[in-house]
Amino acid sequence: MPETTPMVEYGVPIDAQTMVEPPDVAELELEPGHPGLGDEGYIRRRKELFGLCRRHRLERLGPPLIDYTPEETRIWRDVSPKLDELHQKYASRIYLQAKRALGISQTEIPQLRHLSDRLERETRMHLIPAEGPLPYRTFYSYIGERGFPVTQFIRHGSHPEFTPEPDMIHDCLGHVPSLMNHDYAELLTLIGKAVSITPDPKQVLALKRFSWFSIEFGLIQEDNETKIFGAGILSSTGEPITIRRGCRTCCSLFRRLVFCAGRLSSW
Ligand SMILES: [Fe+2]
Repeated sequence: MPETTPMVEYGVPIDAQTMVEPPDVAELELEPGHPGLGDEGYIRRRKELFGLCRRHRLERLGPPLIDYTPEETRIWRDVSPKLDELHQKYASRIYLQAKRALGISQTEIPQLRHLSDRLERETRMHLIPAEGPLPYRTFYSYIGERGFPVTQFIRHGSHPEFTPEPDMIHDCLGHVPSLMNHDYAELLTLIGKAVSITPDPKQVLALKRFSWFSIEFGLIQEDNETKIFGAGILSSTGEPITIRRGCRTCCSLFRRLVFCAGRLSSW
């Protein structure tokens, strides 16, 4: 892409450097329209978990053990079985095998510290406590060191089927099981290393977009069946039923992702 070509996202020109390394956010921010706005108890809890997870991330303490509230457990018990029913029908075998091996409960919210220990033994991946979405460069720098950032807060109870931001349900039921797969773990690490060594923010955004179409919203072909692999679909109660198409596009993007990550990391 020529240097002078402006980057556009959702029809709006963007500055790649600002996208990749935005100013650090040291306090909880809920976006306009967030279902938790106006709920003082929810905001207080989110601030508490924000501070705790941020400290554990910056001081490299690993995921803190969380004493989940009855309301948080209620939401988990509401959403988790619904997702599991969809997973049994539509998820890839790689995901289902890993979810079983991790023993993720539908009734109790798992402790990410325990899941992290299990991943470490299986694929040498581990979990990084994240207070919320991290800047792309920060996010991928952890991945390059075999760490995967995960949140530990739960979405607002007024809309258990929806969250405007990645929460524990998205991260734990969408991303974590696939980290048990050795090939997947190696590929992720490769992408993280590629991001770490390129100074070009446009290349970081390109890798992020490849991740979007594979790790977040990828499909996979298994025994002539299209199965779901991406965490964004696996953690949604609505999308798995309608989204199992367009597999050829995703597979093509996935091959390009591997090619580009390999080239970058071999510099
Ligand atoms: Fe995600």
